[in-house]
This record gives sequence, structure tokens and C-alpha cells, in this order.
Amino acid sequence: MPLHDEGAVPALECRGLSKHYGAGRIVLAALDFALGAGEFVAIMGDSGVGKSTLLNLIAGLDQADGGDVFIDGHAVSRLDDNAATRLRRQKLGFVFQAFHVLPHLTLDQNVALPLLLNEMPTAAAGEMLATVGLGGRGADFPRQLSGGELQRVAIARALVHRPTLILADEPTGNLDPDTAHDVLELFRLQSKLTGAATIMVTHSEAAAAVADRILILRDGGLHAPAPASPAGVSSRALSADDAR
Ligand SMILES: Nc1ncnc2c1ncn2[C@@H]1O[C@H](COP(=O)(O)OP(=O)(O)OP(=O)(O)O)[C@@H](O)[C@H]1O
Ligand SMILES: [Mg+2]
Repeated sequence: MPLHDEGAVPALECRGLSKHYGAGRIVLAALDFALGAGEFVAIMGDSGVGKSTLLNLIAGLDQADGGDVFIDGHAVSRLDDNAATRLRRQKLGFVFQAFHVLPHLTLDQNVALPLLLNEMPTAAAGEMLATVGLGGRGADFPRQLSGGELQRVAIARALVHRPTLILADEPTGNLDPDTAHDVLELFRLQSKLTGAATIMVTHSEAAAAVADRILILRDGGLHAPAPASPAGVSSRALSADDAR
């Protein structure tokens, strides 16, 4: 099954990505994955299966044992540290469960950070804040915001420098269902408008439903979800029950 347009450079490609911890704790087993430009994918899977590990390897926050990561066609895993950092700063945006908005900076300054780091004009920060519904609040500090508003600031910051790829680890994990729904709609819309490809790790079926496709991380690799039976029970759940 082709994962992206033939000939087009994928926003992200993982080839043979492997990671283990300690003796014999294999988390990723030669994982292959490609994400087309502008595509929005949700990754689900049981707790501890390696979803955050996968995002951290792509983000360069953790070191793989083997394999390669290509971001926008660049083999980032083969670059030296400085070049890899530059590439990631330019091409990646992050959204975390705990928002990670810097408390001592105003909203404007928070959103302007990726622009400053990439030596881009910072005027886009105010525009991006307005786009996520926080126009006129640029001089406020994070402590003056609700959780949903904080996550919208984080989304603005992730997108403001027009990255190729957004990595989001349970972005609605700390939000109530209504706020989560609103934030997700905004996230998806803005990702699509800026043309960013997005990987969203989530435990929420409702959150995953906004994605173009859903993949399950299991046994060190990414898999299509098991088809639902007419009773709405997944065949995987059935076979697990049968085994008991
Ligand atoms: N620094 C580390 N040292 C040792 N083991 C680790 C380390 N980081 C993660 N692990 C282990 O690797 C496995 C995968 O962890 P990871 O955080 O990627 O899971 P996850 O799928 O994101 O889970 P959750 O849904 O609970 O967030 C777990 O068994 C975890 O204990
Ligand atoms: Mg995790």
C-alpha cells in the first residue's frame, strides 16, 4: 500500500528504526513508516508500547539503536549535531500534553520563539495568536489562561514558523472533552492550512477520529487498526478474549 504520492518527498520517513532499553526490552523493532506532506495521522496503542519513544526519536530527543529518520528528504539521523539541530528547529513543531508554554514569557514572546530561533521576522506571532482565537491577548502571561487556551498557544507556537512536520504527544490529554474537541478542530484546520504533516499520539478514539488515518503501535511496529466486527468489537479484542 503506497503511504504517499509516488515521486513526492514524504514529510517524514522512518526506515528500520530500532530502539531497546536495558536487556531485551525491545520497544521499536526495525519500524518503517512514511508520512506524506500535509497528512494528519493519529498513532494509538497501549500504554508503554513506545509511542512517546517514537516521537522522541523523530524529534532527536532520544537516540535510536539503528535505522534512519528522514525529515523532508533529509537524513537527519546522519547529520552532525549542529546540522541536525538546525534542521529540526526549522522543520519541526511540537505540541505536548503538558503544554510546555514558558511561564515567564508573554503569549507573544512564547509564539515568537521559533521565529527568533530561525532568524525569521516575528510579526507572524501576533497573526498566529489571532488565528487560534487569542488576538489581543499577546501581552498576557500563561498563568492568566485556561488549559484549552494554553494548548492553543502551544499550537500557535508549533505552527508559526511553517514547519514541515508537527509532533503532538497526547495534545488533548489534559483537556475536558468539549475543550479537547474544539482544540483538535483548530489543530487539524491549522495544520492543513499551513501544509504541515502531523503525527498525533492519542489514547482518545474521538481525538484519533479527526486524523486522515489511524495507526496502532504494537510489537515494535505500526499497524492498520483491526477491522471492527458487525457487533462493533474489534477482531483483536475477540481473539484476545478467546485466548483466555
Ligand atoms: N529512559 C528510559 N529508560 C528505560 N526504559 C524506558 C525509558 N523511556 C521509556 N522506557 C520504556 O519504554 C517503553 C515505552 O515507553 P513510552 O514512553 O514510549 O510508552 P508510550 O507508548 O508513550 O506510553 P504512554 O501511552 O503511557 O505514554 C516503556 O516500557 C517504558 O518503560
Ligand atoms: Mg507516552
